[in-house]
Amino acid sequence: MSKEAKLAVGGQEYSLPIVEGTEGELGIAIGKLRDTTGHITLDDGYGNTGSCVSNITFIDGEKGILRYRGYPIEQLAEQSTFIETAHLLINGELPSRDKLREFSDRLTDNAYLHEDMRYHFESFPVTAHPMAILSSMINASSCFYPGLMGPANRERFDTHAARLISQVRTIAAYSYRKSKGFPTIYPKRNLKYTANFLHMMFSQPYEDYELKPEVVKALDLIFLLHADHEQNCSTATVRMVASSQANLFASAAAGVCALWGPLHGGANQAVIEMLQAIHDSGDDGSRFIQAAKDKDSGARLMGFGHRVYKNYDPRAKIIKAACDRILSGLHISDPLLDIAKHLEEQALNDSYFVERRLYPNVDFYSGIIMRAIGIPVEMFTVIFAIGRMPGWIANFKEILDNPKSRISRPRQIYMGATERQYVPIEERP
Ligand code: SDX
Repeated sequence: MSKEAKLAVGGQEYSLPIVEGTEGELGIAIGKLRDTTGHITLDDGYGNTGSCVSNITFIDGEKGILRYRGYPIEQLAEQSTFIETAHLLINGELPSRDKLREFSDRLTDNAYLHEDMRYHFESFPVTAHPMAILSSMINASSCFYPGLMGPANRERFDTHAARLISQVRTIAAYSYRKSKGFPTIYPKRNLKYTANFLHMMFSQPYEDYELKPEVVKALDLIFLLHADHEQNCSTATVRMVASSQANLFASAAAGVCALWGPLHGGANQAVIEMLQAIHDSGDDGSRFIQAAKDKDSGARLMGFGHRVYKNYDPRAKIIKAACDRILSGLHISDPLLDIAKHLEEQALNDSYFVERRLYPNVDFYSGIIMRAIGIPVEMFTVIFAIGRMPGWIANFKEILDNPKSRISRPRQIYMGATERQYVPIEERP
């Protein structure tokens, strides 16, 4: 196959190099397009534009394939843990037993927040959305580590990465406790990552939360399935901020803000609110499906559709199976799960969704598990952020490790007013 693309513009023909990825993806490299042709490209929403080459995650949206560093998500979901997968994403390889213990110990050593952080928590109203708290407190926490403020460098990276992965969990739990008026529960050194999070969320000073293995595993799976997803909106935001050589915490805080939107990570909260509204209205989902197809209704089938997956999101398949397991294990029957399954069945047999290749995505079922665990709906996107943190860090590191990395600065096509002269206010209509 030719390794060049031909472009005819302005009466001339240009050759543009073609880049082929290890999985056969093809990209036309346009790094010299403006200099040679005087044209830029225009791609609303970047649906056709690659911002980087990356070695971290591969997605085939047509075949429903997702791999972290080459390992299929189905195998990692079945055999790995969130922290082992976090090490894989950040360092590129599955860790040895010793490396995993070293990584886990570093997370344990960095689980605490500086005690003065509590003054920041006190300043939030109890109604503050946990994503607002999370993005603020990630940057607030960085102020207690002056070394972080220097240019990002490799030898301090491992400590800062562990601190961020560990503290994002502690900040999340503290924000939940604050919203309920509960006392702060500190992390325990003898608990592993996900168990410690549940402990900090749900224990009381007089009674430890009962850590059921099936609950810990279900939440660990949720974190693992959210750990990375190539250049999604929030990861691309992290890379954008990192490209200016901002520090790791600032880049991650920006990622939290991008993830918050209901079209992105906020969808898991929107799905449960949608299912609850359908349930409360006595609808079996049929009326809602009609509304979701009607552009004027403003309704969308949240948790459905994806920019890349034009087939089933492999994570949704895994989570759907886990839903049945965790609900039966906890002897819970959730009417919202029945509504979700009914909605899926209707949508997958409806030409509107089939023609647009809209399938359930990772957010469609994840909230059912989080409800079963007792996580409040306003915390769902925070759970997504905890899971996505290793992916953001891995993408930050890819920029840090690239000596040729440049600041990201897209172009635009200007459509505003052409030149005009200033009019003094007394002469304006
Ligand atoms: C995540 O990028 C990632 O990798 C993200 C993520 C990750 O791990 O980081 O996978 C996580 O964000 C998953 C997506 C969560 N969002 C939702 O579930 C919100 C509902 N979904 C949609 O809003 C939408 O499908 C998006 C945002 C996910 C994708 O949007 P696109 O690619 O811009 O698609 P589009 O809006 O152009 O839709 C194409 C057509 C339109 O209809 P037409 O104009 O062609 O007639 O499909 C329709 C849309 O109206 N459509 C929907 C729909 N999603 C798309 N119609 C009803 N319900 C929906 N959910």
